Amino acid sequence: MLIRLGETEFPLPEAPQVLEIGFGDGRFTAQVARLYPDWRILGVEISAGSVARALKRFRREGITNVRVYHGAAGFALRNLVAPKSLHQVYVNFPDPWPKSKHQENRLLQRNFFRRLSTRLATGGALLLTTDHEEYWKFAQAEGLASGLFEVETPPPPEHHLTTKYALKWKEQGRWFYHAVFRKVSEDPTPWPPLARYPMPHALLSGTLPELKSFEKTVVRFEGGTAVLLEATRTLGPEGGYYFHTHLEEEDLIQDLLLEARPSTHGLYVGVSRFGAPLSTVGVKAAVEWLVGWLEGQGLQVLQRSY
Ligand SMILES: C[S@@+](CC[C@H](N)C(=O)[O-])C[C@H]1O[C@@H](n2cnc3c(N)ncnc32)[C@H](O)[C@@H]1O
Repeated sequence: MLIRLGETEFPLPEAPQVLEIGFGDGRFTAQVARLYPDWRILGVEISAGSVARALKRFRREGITNVRVYHGAAGFALRNLVAPKSLHQVYVNFPDPWPKSKHQENRLLQRNFFRRLSTRLATGGALLLTTDHEEYWKFAQAEGLASGLFEVETPPPPEHHLTTKYALKWKEQGRWFYHAVFRKVSEDPTPWPPLARYPMPHALLSGTLPELKSFEKTVVRFEGGTAVLLEATRTLGPEGGYYFHTHLEEEDLIQDLLLEARPSTHGLYVGVSRFGAPLSTVGVKAAVEWLVGWLEGQGLQVLQRSY
C-alpha cells in the first residue's frame, strides 16, 4: 500500500503479522495484543470450547487486533497466511505427546519447520515455551535438522509465564524451557494453499437399490484416504441415502455427508452442504467412488461434473 505526501508516494509500513498456535483460553493473546496494539494477531486453536472462551475474553477486554481461526495449525498456516508475512509465531505449552508412539502428533517437527519457513518474513522467529524438557530438546533438534533455522535458548520472557498452563505448572513448581527459532533460510518447495474445485456431483438414471447393509469402504487417492463409514436412509417419500464419510488429506480432516437422492432430473449424487465441506481432491475421489459403486448396482451415469 502507498501513501501520498505532496508529489511523492511512500510505502505504508505494514503492521507486523503475528500468529499464535494453540492459544487455549486466550489470556496470553490478549496480553500480547495490549502490549503491541499495532500488531495484527491471528490466533489458531483446534478446541471449540477454548475458541469460545477466548472470544468472550477478547470482547470483554476490548481487544480489536486479534482474529481467530477455529481449526488446525497446519491448515491455517497453509491457507490463511501469506508467504513471507509472519513477523513472529508463538507456541506456548504445546501438547507434548510424551509416548514415543504418539510423537508423530507433535506440532514442532522438521516438516512443520520447513513449511513455517515459507510463511515467516526474513528474520522472523517462532518462540516456544514449554514445561516439557524432552519436547523442548526434540523441537530444537527438528528445527536445526530442517537446516532453515538457528536456535537460541534464553530464559522465557516473564509474560510467557502467565498463560493458563504456565500458571498451573508454576503452582506445581515445574521448570520452564524456552527456545527461539529464527529463520535463516527458506524451503524452496512451494507450499501453495490447498487447491479447491467446484463441488463434484453426477446425475444417474435408474432405481436406487434398497440397501440392506453397507460395508465400510476405504478409498485411497494421492495424498489421502476417504472412509465411507455407513449409509443411512433419508426420511421423506422420495427416499435417498447419506453416506457418512471421514476424509483425511494433507493438512485437512473433514467429516462429510455424501448423498444419493432422487431429483427431478434423475438420481443426484454429490455432497450435502451439512458441515460446510471444502471441495478438495479427496472429496472428488469419494464422489467418484460412490458413482462407480452405484454404476455397479445397475445405474447409468447421465452427466458428471468432476
Ligand atoms: C496444553 S494447551 C496450552 C494452551 C495455552 N497455550 C496455554 O499455555 O495455556 C495446548 C493447546 O493447543 C491446542 N492445539 C493442539 N493441537 C493444535 C493444532 N494442531 N492446532 C491448533 N491448536 C492446537 C489445544 O486445543 C490446546 O488448547
